[in-house]
Order: sequence, then structure tokens, then C-alpha cells
Amino acid sequence: FAQSEPYRPQVHFSPREHWTNDPNGLVYFEGEYHLFYQYNPQGDVWGHMSWGHAVSKDLLHWQELPVALPEHGGEMIFTGSVVVDERNSSGLCAGGTPCMVAVYTGHHIIGGDSKRYTQDQNLAVSQDRGRTWSFYKGNPVLDLHMKEFRDPSVTWNEPRKAWLMAVALPDDHVVAMYSSPDLKKWEKISSFGPAGDVAGQWECPDLLKVPVEGSAESVWALKVGLNPGGLQGGSGEQYFIGTFDGTSFKRLPSQQENGWTDWGKDSYCAISYNHLPAGEKPVLLGWMSNWEYAAEVPTKPWRGQMTLPRRLSARLVEGKYVLVQQPVVEALHGAELKDASAAVATPVEYRVSLQPDKAGSAGVRVRYDATHWVDVGFDVKRGVMFVDRSHSSVPVAKGFAVRTEAKMLRSLPLDLDVIVDASSVEVFAQQGAIAMTNLVYPPSGQVALEPLGAEVKMRARGWTLRK
Ligand code: FRU
Repeated sequence: FAQSEPYRPQVHFSPREHWTNDPNGLVYFEGEYHLFYQYNPQGDVWGHMSWGHAVSKDLLHWQELPVALPEHGGEMIFTGSVVVDERNSSGLCAGGTPCMVAVYTGHHIIGGDSKRYTQDQNLAVSQDRGRTWSFYKGNPVLDLHMKEFRDPSVTWNEPRKAWLMAVALPDDHVVAMYSSPDLKKWEKISSFGPAGDVAGQWECPDLLKVPVEGSAESVWALKVGLNPGGLQGGSGEQYFIGTFDGTSFKRLPSQQENGWTDWGKDSYCAISYNHLPAGEKPVLLGWMSNWEYAAEVPTKPWRGQMTLPRRLSARLVEGKYVLVQQPVVEALHGAELKDASAAVATPVEYRVSLQPDKAGSAGVRVRYDATHWVDVGFDVKRGVMFVDRSHSSVPVAKGFAVRTEAKMLRSLPLDLDVIVDASSVEVFAQQGAIAMTNLVYPPSGQVALEPLGAEVKMRARGWTLRK
């Protein structure tokens, strides 16, 4: 993308033009990673919701394709998933060869009044690797005649030999679980919630099996978006760790407190890839924005971008499982920087390890220019990890200039993996046990790294990232 577009992400997906929010239908099929996404083909604010589409061979270089599922006949296409129907269980795959089936929420406005609507679950099918789609004639496939009922996350469950759907009842703070032999008939098998934080609507659930590091075991994670009422204000996402017996998700007794899939302000509705090659760790990718100000961010001719993909595992830390996230980015490493304190053009990655000073603080300043920077670090006395973007940006919106904090993990080292793109600072701290993603709109496309405080000991390596 032309550098003449200020803030255009270089290593994160953003559509060429117009609005995007949630990623949808993340699926790997025949050598391609697909990324569908909530998209307004007509403008740079939310509306006319359709599924945009991009493909990649490595999760990093994306090719944008035509809109996959357009708004049609009074139905907007809300968030959902795509599965590969290997055995033609649906009977929708032509010639019985594996096909792609999208399961999405239809949003139907009643009588032209945008405040009155119903939501139900629907199918669309592609026989040509996602290039063209047809809507299923028997839609909807799941209709409770409810106003708020959305964001189906569908996966194949091998032990059950059936499709599973986790879907949100946003106002009830419930994730309902359904099962189906054929993607067409759905039977309710369990529900989870209310639990954890319930200040806003629950959206975009995802139930996934996560390998435990250093063992042959797995745990199950159920993540769910919350809007508003996220940890940092606006939209955010909590996760629960537990077991799943093929019917219901139950939290582990040791796991009463929920975690946050991202402790920053700008990661929402992350979902995981379906149908990954056997043995690949789950990959999670989210929308890099916040409903609080998403419509106000100063980018043109697009608005909205995705986080980096992150490989997930679980680790037992201080008696509790935490999700550990490793960004998929290494394949983009250019030359290693000789000196991380020298100014370089973004995008860049810094890996830093820190020793706190006597006052217990340890951190780095990502400096853009004399008056703009982002501070990232730890306040060991208070037990927090933080990213402070209050001096990072041109004026954006009310509530943008904030410091985001997470509870640090006392037993893990003070390390940071900081990925700086044109309009974001994504941090993976303490070996990936804390992910913290924040947008920034600095007036400069150059950065340099400094220790935060004269006494702080820091070791830093840096790489420019190839586009
Ligand atoms: C979350 C969300 C979803 C919905 C979609 C509509 O960001 O509100 O619940 O399906 O966006 O664009």
C-alpha cells in the first residue's frame, strides 16, 4: 500500500477501502487461509453489513477478493463462521466433494426502523474455494424469533461426530451450544453463563481446544466478547478455561476468575481458524479496534484492521491456566537492527527483557518524535503490566489517550515482544501470557526504543519487518 496513506497498516490486514469490523469465517482450505470480515461495501462507517473476503498462504500476506456474502433482500450478513464439509454431511456439496459452508447471522430490520429487528442463523455454500457463494434455500436454519441471537461459531466435534455451534444470547449473557448432524437441523445441548463480566452484551463466542504447554493434555477455552463493559472500557473479551465433554462447557474449579484474551483497548471479536492442518496450534485473530471510537479513527479510504494472527496454547501459571499467545510474524523479519535505539521506519518488532529499578519499574519508551511516544512496561510494586498511549497520537476521540493495564504474573520474567506497525502497538508480555493491543496515530512513521528510566536494565533486539 502506498505510504501516501497515513496509518495504513503494513503487516496487518486492512481492506483497500471502506469499513470493517469483526473477522468472520476463519478457515484453512486447500492451501489457503481465508479471512472473511464484517464489511460495508458502500462506506467507511458501519452499515450494509456484508462479508468481505481475503486469502493468504502464510497468514501475513493477504489478497483481497470480491465481497463474498453481500447484504441482500433486506438481510444484513452478520458475524459467523465457515466450515469445510468434508463428508458432504449437509448434502450441499456438489458431486459430494468437500465444500465450504458459511454459517452466519441474518439481521432483519422490521418496517424500516433500524431499532426493530430479528436475528437468526443461516447457511451459504461455496463450491469453488470461497470465490462464489449461494445462499441456502432453506434459510434460516436456526430461528428462535428473537431480537438478539447471533455470531454462530461452528466446528466439527470428532468425539460427538457432529457439528457444534456456540452462539450468543447477548442480553442474557449466555452462550448456547447446539449440535447438528448436517448443519441444517440444530438441537440445543447446553448453555453457559451468565459468568464473569456481564456489564454489556455478550457477542462473538468461540469455544476451542487449546494444548497445554509441555504436556499431552488440552484444556478448553470459551471466549466471549463484551460490549460495552470491556476491561478497558468499550468492547473487550474475556475467556474462561474449563472442560468440554461433547455436550457442555464447565469451568475448572481452580479457574473461577476470568482472563482477558487481550488486555488492551483494541482487540475484539477474535475467532479461531477452523480446519487447520493436524498438529497446528489454534490460531486466533481479532478486529483491531473498539466500538467506543471505531467510527472516528482518522484513516482514509478504509476504516478498520485486524490484529496479527496469534498461535495459542495454555500454561499453568501460579496454579491457574492462562492463555499464551505467540504472534505469527517471524517470517517477516528483515535485517536485525544493530542498535534498537536508532530511529527506523515502521513496521518493526522489538524483543526486550528487563530488570526493574529500585522503585520496581521496568519498561521501554517507543519514541516516534520529540513529543510522541508509547510507554510499555511493568510496575512491579503494583503488580501491573501496562501500555500508555496517552502521548502517542494526533487527536482521535474522547477517551483515546489512555493507559491500559493488566495484572502481571509474578512468577514469569519481565519480557516484552512489541510489534509496532503504522497505527498500532501490539505487545505480548511475559512470554505471551499477556497480550495487549492498542491503536496509535502518531504523526511520524519512525520509531526508536529507549529504556524507561535511567536505572532500568534492558536488553533489546529489533528487526524491521518486511511487508
Ligand atoms: C460485534 C458485532 C457482532 C455482530 C457484528 C455486526 O462487533 O456487534 O455481534 O454480528 O458486530 O457487524
